[in-house]
Amino acid sequence: MVNARMVGAACLALVMAAGTGSTIALAQAAKKKTASKAKGADGPVPTPEEVASAEDIYKTKCAVCHTLDGNSPIVNMNFADGEWRHGSSVKDVINTITNGVQGTAMMPFKTQFSPGEIAALARKVRGFDPKLK
Ligand code: HEC
Repeated sequence: MVNARMVGAACLALVMAAGTGSTIALAQAAKKKTASKAKGADGPVPTPEEVASAEDIYKTKCAVCHTLDGNSPIVNMNFADGEWRHGSSVKDVINTITNGVQGTAMMPFKTQFSPGEIAALARKVRGFDPKLK
């Protein structure tokens, strides 16, 4: 069982271990606490924090290639034209973002974002396609 006291102690340990890097460590520890756990056919259900985080991530990490409105003039990078080369289900899109597309500029993001953030990103990019629910 992890109680508030243990989390506090863990944070303290992180602060002591990480020194000046502690802000990041604390932010990550805080993120872990609120991370979504429920997992169904569509992957984890993102928390409101993860949805907000995905909005930022999309703007800073994805839009450079996929454009802000997801309607890239380069077909393979377009999310709005109803064509999903790697599957359009939430599960498929989570898989593409997690593992990338080998041999293309689409890199795997599994080490950069939490599963909940990736689930939120998948829902966001699917949202650019008016044909998908
Ligand atoms: C450096 C450029 C680049 C960045 C950054 C990038 N992508 Fe991609 N992405 C691509 C390319 C290129 C493809 C097309 C791969 C192919 O040819 O099949 C792609 C494909 C995809 C697909 C599959 C689309 C389909 O038709 O099935 C998804 C989903 C996706 N990207 C999501 C993301 C998300 C989410 C991010 C940000 C976390 C992101 N990408 C960041 C270049 C990028």
